Amino acid sequence: MTFAALIVAAGSGQRFGNALPKQFHALRGQPILRFAVDTFLRHPKIDKVAVVYAVDWYQATQTALAGLDSVVLIPGGDSRQQSVLRGLEALNRNIAPDYVLIHDAARPLINPALIDRVIAGLKDHSAVIPGLNVTDTLKQTQNSTITHTIDRQNMIRVQTPQGFDFSTILAAHQTQMDQTLTDDAALIEAQGGTIFVVPGDERNLKITHADDLDLALRMMTDQSVPDFRVGQGFDVHRLVTGDGVILCGHLIPCPHALLGHSDADVGLHALCDAIFGALGDGDIGQHFPPSDPQWRGANSIIFLKYALDRLAARGGILHHIDLTIICEQPKIGPHRTAMLARLSDLCRLPQDRIGLKATTTEKLGFAGRGEGIAAQAIVTVRL
Ligand code: CTP
Ligand code: MG
Repeated sequence: MTFAALIVAAGSGQRFGNALPKQFHALRGQPILRFAVDTFLRHPKIDKVAVVYAVDWYQATQTALAGLDSVVLIPGGDSRQQSVLRGLEALNRNIAPDYVLIHDAARPLINPALIDRVIAGLKDHSAVIPGLNVTDTLKQTQNSTITHTIDRQNMIRVQTPQGFDFSTILAAHQTQMDQTLTDDAALIEAQGGTIFVVPGDERNLKITHADDLDLALRMMTDQSVPDFRVGQGFDVHRLVTGDGVILCGHLIPCPHALLGHSDADVGLHALCDAIFGALGDGDIGQHFPPSDPQWRGANSIIFLKYALDRLAARGGILHHIDLTIICEQPKIGPHRTAMLARLSDLCRLPQDRIGLKATTTEKLGFAGRGEGIAAQAIVTVRL
């Protein structure tokens, strides 16, 4: 059994109201068209993916799909049905699949489970479409006044992908041409064929008007699954003789000092890297290059505030910090309370959400020999 996906993207998006057709507008940084193509390419049961593009937008289509594997590109027509027909004929010359799933590029949030439902339906039916119950009351209007109420009981709203036995839908498109059709099942209906309905998906919305982009974004950020992340950071600074070390923004007077381009607060540096790590946002050296003279002797609190600002800019909340300082000297114990209070203050985090620990390495390694101090940090954030 071979399955092809035919994604139609040759429309001009009149209702969207922008010179650039809607399928090329970005959703979370990616062109709308790319979403559906990527989802079908990744689906294990789909053998071939074909995209019907608008002739004037060939370059934009190629750019939108750059880097994705072997997609068949087919020039579309003036109506949706013409575009589908051209796509089906090209697929017939290409792999002539047993089944085809026809999908609107304007539905970027198509998910694999819905594709599975349509494919499962094709086991026993030659035409399968996703539908959703209508919950609003339906009324017919004329000139903005109601003419009558429609019984919503047996009404459904229909989505794509619509799945078909390939030769049946190809023949249907070849024998009838109706420029006004907005889906493919309508051709099977016209022939008196049976169309099986499987549950659609509310999130699989069709981008039609410009406002729909906002709605799609909200659908993508599913509130029921918060974006929790864990970041880790590690840093080491060399110990030399001096008159104190700064750890976690707190000065510990002692006959040592930490060597570094900035104030060498190894604890805050590990913490910054943990935050950058959780955000997938590079590392401290990238944001504050050691080669840049403006950071010479800099107070590391500046770095921490910057990392926390980057987190806030992404709508992130810091939930928890776990920080371990690894050294023989100075002894951290007597300063732990002050360091914890400082961290709590700097991060605006209650103290019971901060783990602050210290350990030696039993005189082993560089930390054991007192050559340097290391710090490890883990943070939990929610975006
Ligand atoms: N489509 C197509 N060829 C056409 C017209 C439409 O391939 N000649 C595609 C669209 O790109 C879209 C899908 O069919 O992915 C559904 O159509 P629709 O949402 O109506 O998109 P547009 O026709 O582009 O928008 P509008 O009707 O507002 O102009
Ligand atoms: Mg249209």
